[in-house]
Amino acid sequence: MCGIFGTIGDDAAMRTLEGLRRLEYRGYDSAGLAALFDAYDRNARVETERAVGYVADLANKVNGRFKHSVIAIGHTRWATHGGVTEVNAHPHSSTDGLMSVVHNGIIENTSELLSEIKESGYNMSSETDTELIVHLLHQALGNQRTPEAALDAFSSVIERLHGAWAIAVIVSGMNGILVAKNGAPLVIGRCENCVSISSDPMTLYGSCSEVAYLDDGDVAYVSKEKIDVISDSADISFAPHSGDYSPEDPGVFDHMMLKEIHDQPTAFQNAIAGRVSADGKNAMLSGFQLNPNELRNLEKINIVACGTAFFAAKLGVRYIRRLSNVPVEAYLSSEFPADSVCGKNTLTIAVTQSGETKDTLDAITRAKVAGGHISSICNVINSTIARFTGNGAYLYAGPEYSVASTKAFTNMSAVLMLLALTISEPDNAERTRVIRGLRQMPQRMSNYLHSDIDFDPIVNQIADSNTVLFIGRGPNSHIASEAALKMMEITYLPCIAYPAGELKHGPIALIEDGTPVIAIAPDDSHYPKMEANIRECAARGANVILVTNKEQSAEDFCSNVIRVPHTDPFLSPFMSIMPLHLLAYRLAVRLGNNVDRPRNLAKSVTVV
Ligand code: AGP
Repeated sequence: MCGIFGTIGDDAAMRTLEGLRRLEYRGYDSAGLAALFDAYDRNARVETERAVGYVADLANKVNGRFKHSVIAIGHTRWATHGGVTEVNAHPHSSTDGLMSVVHNGIIENTSELLSEIKESGYNMSSETDTELIVHLLHQALGNQRTPEAALDAFSSVIERLHGAWAIAVIVSGMNGILVAKNGAPLVIGRCENCVSISSDPMTLYGSCSEVAYLDDGDVAYVSKEKIDVISDSADISFAPHSGDYSPEDPGVFDHMMLKEIHDQPTAFQNAIAGRVSADGKNAMLSGFQLNPNELRNLEKINIVACGTAFFAAKLGVRYIRRLSNVPVEAYLSSEFPADSVCGKNTLTIAVTQSGETKDTLDAITRAKVAGGHISSICNVINSTIARFTGNGAYLYAGPEYSVASTKAFTNMSAVLMLLALTISEPDNAERTRVIRGLRQMPQRMSNYLHSDIDFDPIVNQIADSNTVLFIGRGPNSHIASEAALKMMEITYLPCIAYPAGELKHGPIALIEDGTPVIAIAPDDSHYPKMEANIRECAARGANVILVTNKEQSAEDFCSNVIRVPHTDPFLSPFMSIMPLHLLAYRLAVRLGNNVDRPRNLAKSVTVV
């Protein structure tokens, strides 16, 4: 969702535009830039430009005009208050043009503050909640231009806001940027001759040698010389920031989603590296504050997650129940009943690719308040949730740019499997078999991805459908849910997933001649019942597309069969999901959709 980038230093606006390009993957619908060319001229108006569409559209409009600026802030906007228009795009400036603001998040007491601002004679030119911040600051700061006065005025404005935000403001005559953070990410990066601020530390790789993370509640004045901060926590401290920025580059693939599907064997290898022993006897997921024995003795483990991460969590619950005796449940973050399920001897684990999902951050915060232990399983290192929980495990899937999550789903499932193995009883009979299966998985995935799979006949069948129904049983019921979500988000077709046992309790009513039903039925104990469900669908005219690893399967009742490699039944979800992610991708390409940036969706969902 929205992203903020800002720079103090030579060619500040051009650096900021590059920062905005690096934030594009988060998802946005418009972009904007504000800059000052002389930091000491208190009468100079802040120069701004905004564009609906991509950062490239903004760069075209800017057309070199911002060269030689000394301070700049920029923004990628994902609309919340007000439509996708240039007028609503950030930055928003004061009426006299002497200050400009960019903002991520939502101000909840907008109506109350708006009437106050209007009574004071300020007119709003946009429909956003953001614009009121600049008018409030204009009112509070007046003509003062010292860092102390600016910080005081800004902090008095911030105190009046309710909700969540990351905010950056530039003011003519001031050689710095005012920033505030509460519930949305913001980091400060430093190098020899410039200072930057960004919503994502990854964007600072290569340009800043050290970074400092702001805490919720922090308000600061950031300049090249120093950082003045008003904070409830410890003073801001910088730490070395080294790493390679991996650009959003699909390389030989047509889209990032396809590249990320093909990244899976390597990503999976990285997830298990150093966590399973070569002899297949041991698995250990370290990084948790509680040791394996303490984990085994928990009263309950709660897992909180959204979207794809939630389906990985549901799989994880099955693994933990199967391998250990610890009671466990997965909850949608936005529905997490912390007060009823958290207590002294419970652990709540946030599972999240981005580590920035606001619903999940709120859920884990509620778990902490309720008094239980908290941990996280995240992909993005040092993300807000990883830092908030302070312990847990990383996915090591590498950056995931496509909005449709693929390799992160696989790695979440693998890491939860490792957690299950870590807390399983050492004499559990299934351990060795499962660990061996995990070690073989990268090679199996790679073989499958390199095989020739012809999706065209299936794509032809589904492309004109009104609905696609996904069914599975046991662990593969969660694969049905994940596959349906993936197909829906990039093809915009209504995709519905049900545990196959529920078919006759409602969803079978959808089936008419030609309705595509995707049935996930590997060779396991659920197979006979799945075959019965497949026959029931076929008898009503459905085109059943079967995903299976069984040789003699119900193919006579199916219009297509997608064969996946044989694995231990416990691990079959890792195989079943691959062709279904690929099928969703192929279908979206056929429909001419923007696969990596599907409409209305964002990679980082930082508002509730
Ligand atoms: C996945 O394809 C989706 N884009 C979405 O459901 C995503 O998984 C969800 O928003 C959670 O994101 P997170 O893993 O970054 O917390």
